[in-house]
Amino acid sequence: MRVEETSAAAEYVQGNEDRELRRLMLQAQVYAPLTEGVLRGAGLKPGMRVLDVGCGVGDVSFLASELVGPTGEVVGVDREERVLACARRRAGAQKLSHVRFQQCSLEALPVGAPYDAVICRLVLMFQPDPVSFVRRMMEHLRPGGVLAVHELELAAMGLTHPRLPLFNRIWNWMLPTCERLGIKVHMGLELVSTLRRAGLVVDDGVVGGRLSVTPDSEPTQTLVETVRTLLPHMERLGVALPMEVDIDTLAARLTAELRSNGGVLVPSLMVGVWAHRPGPV
Ligand SMILES: C[S@@+](CC[C@H](N)C(=O)[O-])C[C@H]1O[C@@H](n2cnc3c(N)ncnc32)[C@H](O)[C@@H]1O
Repeated sequence: MRVEETSAAAEYVQGNEDRELRRLMLQAQVYAPLTEGVLRGAGLKPGMRVLDVGCGVGDVSFLASELVGPTGEVVGVDREERVLACARRRAGAQKLSHVRFQQCSLEALPVGAPYDAVICRLVLMFQPDPVSFVRRMMEHLRPGGVLAVHELELAAMGLTHPRLPLFNRIWNWMLPTCERLGIKVHMGLELVSTLRRAGLVVDDGVVGGRLSVTPDSEPTQTLVETVRTLLPHMERLGVALPMEVDIDTLAARLTAELRSNGGVLVPSLMVGVWAHRPGPV
């Protein structure tokens, strides 16, 4: 793999423009049931204090807040103030008083009272050194506490039946672009070894994806919006020409392809793993 721009991945390549905030929320709808399963598997329950690292516009924090209830607490941290402004607005609209958001990078976050659980979704894949990042997360976890992560396995992307030529082209644009931006395309399947190398005891894990059961369903829309946000990088890296991607017609073309052959598509697979911090409880 040629990594040209590892630092770009660390800076979170997809940016934080309004369109990107909407894409994050759309993507969150697709992954919500899967992430909720991971959080339940990890044992989140009423009364727990939870830290959500790289919380973005707040969706994982909101899922956790339902599980810990009003007797618990969820703190979402993200280094981008703009995403947090959106997260706070959404928490206010839902009148959630046990969720708060703090602008800070994980690296600069002061260690305070330890949390019962530290959770994180779609953040490790952008880190130059995921093991060090997990070690930082562990500093905020009490001994015996649980760390749950949910990440994409991009190598498994492209599960279609029957074969969908346009989807395959999209995939051939996306994978090399992500690799050359330094995004960890195998982060999902590398989670177990990453957590172990950081010093955690891995408990269990699950793999899941959402089917595009109707051609224009949310998983398909999420895929197209992800292509849109990566498009400037695809062009700059010479992976795809704007003409061939033709982003404004891509959704319609993909929908037509799915409709014409009655195909089914799983745009992405997510791996969830949970582990606990060893030590006297
Ligand atoms: C793809 S978004 C995922 C957001 C959210 N976890 C979700 O699944 O909807 C990644 C987020 O991680 C944040 N992030 C990346 N590195 C970070 C770091 N070192 N400290 C804090 N936030 C970070 C980015 O600002 C971005 O909002």
